[in-house]
Amino acid sequence: RAEASARRDLAGRRVVVTAGGTREPLDPVRFLGNRSSGKQGVAIAEAARARGAHVTLVAANLEVASPGGCDLREVSTALELQAAVTEAAAGADLVVMAAAVADYRPAAVSESKIKKQPGDDGLTLELVRNPDILAGLGHAPHDGTLLVGFAAETEADDDRLLALGAGKLEAKGADLLVVNRVGWTEGFARDDNRVVIIGNEGVLARAVGSKMSVAHEILDVVAPRLRELRA
Ligand code: CTP
Ligand code: CA
Repeated sequence: RAEASARRDLAGRRVVVTAGGTREPLDPVRFLGNRSSGKQGVAIAEAARARGAHVTLVAANLEVASPGGCDLREVSTALELQAAVTEAAAGADLVVMAAAVADYRPAAVSESKIKKQPGDDGLTLELVRNPDILAGLGHAPHDGTLLVGFAAETEADDDRLLALGAGKLEAKGADLLVVNRVGWTEGFARDDNRVVIIGNEGVLARAVGSKMSVAHEILDVVAPRLRELRA
């Protein structure tokens, strides 16, 4: 896809990408996390950079090297990611929420390491909901900022997968949603990906291949929409 980089069709654009997976601490040594490696989000940040954008990467616990040439904001929890992306999104042309954000966090964080109790046979954790960061951005005024979300689903049926995606697009007030199937062997930590990009009109594109080629295909859908948004 050398021609895409050569086009530099994002020159002068301000792009914010979130990548990785949040971690919610239980105590000083433990957290609740997820299997997102950050590869797809980092690929989008690199692709946008190659196409001329100024990129802010909000990085949550990446398992891959962070790309050079980006303004890097490292975060760990959902609340930290929310603060960083909300600040960076002000005046941005494009926000891509590729990070896997914990839906819940422990209701309390223990100051000391949680110890087993003599004779107990289990432990119940109380969790509280984290804010929906993408919906927060989508429902606040964001004139001139295109919002792209991701949807990770384990649904096997293609039609039902797309219906779930359409529901999320609508509920979150996003402009585009990148839907991908995840599972024990699909999606996370792999080098390749298979996604469907949907908008209010329905399916806009399907992309299969390396996470970098998928990143460029997502930006191929995004770039003309940015031109319409802010000519
Ligand atoms: N997201 C977010 N804040 C959250 C949870 C998710 O901003 N607290 C964003 C993700 O970054 C992603 C999109 O919302 O871009 C969809 O995430 P996903 O987990 O697929 O959807 P949820 O709305 O959390 O629904 P589910 O109950 O299926 O997990
Ligand atoms: Ca979720």
